[in-house]
Amino acid sequence: MNAAIRAATRSALSNKFEVVGIIGGYQGILDKNFKTLQTSDMGNIVQRGGTILKTGRCVPFLDPKFRKVAADHLAEHGINALICIGGDGSMRGAMELWTEHKVPTIGLPGSIDNDVFGTDFSIGFDTAVNTALDAIDKIRDTAFSHDRLFIVEVMGHETGHIALEVGLACGAEEIFIPENPVTVDDAIQHIQRSLARGKASSILVTAEGKKPGRAYDLGEAIRKKAGYDAKICVLGHIQRGGSPTARDRVLASRMGATSIEALMRGNCTAMVGIQNGEMVLVPLKDVTTKKKKLNTNLIKLARVLST
Ligand code: F6P
Repeated sequence: MNAAIRAATRSALSNKFEVVGIIGGYQGILDKNFKTLQTSDMGNIVQRGGTILKTGRCVPFLDPKFRKVAADHLAEHGINALICIGGDGSMRGAMELWTEHKVPTIGLPGSIDNDVFGTDFSIGFDTAVNTALDAIDKIRDTAFSHDRLFIVEVMGHETGHIALEVGLACGAEEIFIPENPVTVDDAIQHIQRSLARGKASSILVTAEGKKPGRAYDLGEAIRKKAGYDAKICVLGHIQRGGSPTARDRVLASRMGATSIEALMRGNCTAMVGIQNGEMVLVPLKDVTTKKKKLNTNLIKLARVLST
């Protein structure tokens, strides 16, 4: 997110706009937590994970009454356009600020889950995938040396984008994702096939699904049915931090700069996305009502490669 903040701020300043950072997301608007940003504030942040502006989930913003308060606070401070980085909840808030109060708003997709409609990639996804991959490559050394079965759980909220990409890249024996349910029996058969051809270690990757801790349930089910003892590793929040990959920094920089161009061209309610390598503007109405599909070709490929 810092690379996006830096790009939007410096692009805006170079076009003679004033830039105000909102500290703490939508709650920051309600609390009037505003800070004027200069180009020097953007130094030494492109390599840092997280966000220098801080963030948080803002429950009051679901209530139209508080969105009205927010619009009033923005007007009082002379803030006449908003750039908002986040997942689908943030995009919904952004769209409502435009529809209810005519605050021009451009969204940038910032979510490790990569589940935002209208963009092939969201900011943070590549870094999260590479962080998880690095961890699993290390786990693989123990799995191989000790002939062990591991179940590694990755984030992704209710989607399997991270699990699928990571599972494919690490050569997981089985990938459990909400979009393509694999049964415990499938996984056991897979482990047995591996054992039969002399491969004594396996790594199963699972998306957290609705409930983090799913890897423990899977491990227990496999133990009960087949007697295999799996080591469980829930990667958790390490996937949400760390120095962003080059791909994420470039994506965020392009998106941040595009958000200012979009405002200058008079766009009032859109999200910047990347489709087939190009920057695009997607109506926030579509972003907030349509569901992003998982690349089913990757599921097929992962299956072929892991046999
Ligand atoms: O939506 C992003 C995400 O990282 C999910 O993958 C994860 O389930 C969730 O946020 C964790 O949120 P929190 O840090 O609030 O527990």
